[in-house]
Amino acid sequence: MKAIETKDLVKRFEDVEAVKGINLEIEEGELFGLLGPNGAGKTTTISMLCTIVRPTSGSATIYGHDVRKESDTVRGLIGIVFQDPSLDDNLTGRENLDFHGRLYKVPRGEIAGRINDVLELVELSDKADVIVKKYSGGMKRRLEIARGLLHHPKVLFLDEPTLGLDPQTRRHIWEYIGRLNREKQITMILTTHYMDEADQLCDRIAIVDHGKIVAMDTPDNLKHDVGGDVVIMTVPNGGEQLKAKLEQLEVVKSTQLVDSTLRLSVDKGETAIPIFMDVARQEGIAVPSISLHEPTLEDIFIKYTGREIRAQEAAGGFAGHGPGRR
Ligand SMILES: Nc1ncnc2c1ncn2[C@@H]1O[C@H](COP(=O)(O)OP(=O)(O)OP(=O)(O)O)[C@@H](O)[C@H]1O
Ligand SMILES: [Mg+2]
Repeated sequence: MKAIETKDLVKRFEDVEAVKGINLEIEEGELFGLLGPNGAGKTTTISMLCTIVRPTSGSATIYGHDVRKESDTVRGLIGIVFQDPSLDDNLTGRENLDFHGRLYKVPRGEIAGRINDVLELVELSDKADVIVKKYSGGMKRRLEIARGLLHHPKVLFLDEPTLGLDPQTRRHIWEYIGRLNREKQITMILTTHYMDEADQLCDRIAIVDHGKIVAMDTPDNLKHDVGGDVVIMTVPNGGEQLKAKLEQLEVVKSTQLVDSTLRLSVDKGETAIPIFMDVARQEGIAVPSISLHEPTLEDIFIKYTGREIRAQEAAGGFAGHGPGRR
């Protein structure tokens, strides 16, 4: 039996179709990532799986239990680490966990022991009796993860588990997530808009854009799919013109221009670069920098969505109407 299965899952809010027919099959023990820009529908998708948001149509099951018809059973099987922090700042770490344990009806006699276990797991035992207000961002996240595990869920949902944390803390949290997944065989589904996070952590990734899955595979397969090299040229002026010229070359497999960054997929970067520079010179277009790299998830993302994920973040959120799209 699949840990998670959805069929044509749709969620419509009054005027927005946030999720437009998502099909997923996630195996037990899998660490699965939903990757996508702001507003792609990631949180809405997992909220439906968590029984928080009611699907408009389609179906979703957790270990065969329907999220709509058997929501109580489903809730007993899952743990959730939300995008928005939901800890009580005025309680200690231990009190927060205790409250959650009672909410989830963890047997009375077991609560204290389980709290100690999960606190140890996320290395917060020594902070257990400090009020959460005094925790750092990373400590709060770890406490939330501990809380998500308290009632021994079979499936753990993590919505943007490292959002806003510094790189070192993010890596630390990746380690916990990876270890929990391996050692406890907990199926995990996480959402992120960090490419490196998805790449490092996930067994499989679905790239979500405008409420739809546009690509789904292991990170390695997704990258091999693009193949070759990616040449990145900075073109402050005349990007469109240069793109049009280079597109005519046989060596160029695909191009994307985002702001002043021109990306070109080629088989062999070393031979393509001199040709590209010649064309730029002939056209009188300045290229202050040019670089070569193997395809990353970022390139995959651009290939499938035509947009750069970071550009939207910088622009302060994405409402679903990217430039030059649909
Ligand atoms: N309760 C709601 N009512 C109306 N529209 C909503 C509601 N929740 C989400 N939306 C809309 O649905 C779309 C998808 O939102 P969602 O929160 O699922 O995106 P996301 O991929 O999680 O984005 P982010 O990366 O910003 O967390 C957006 O256009 C959003 O404005
Ligand atoms: Mg979200």
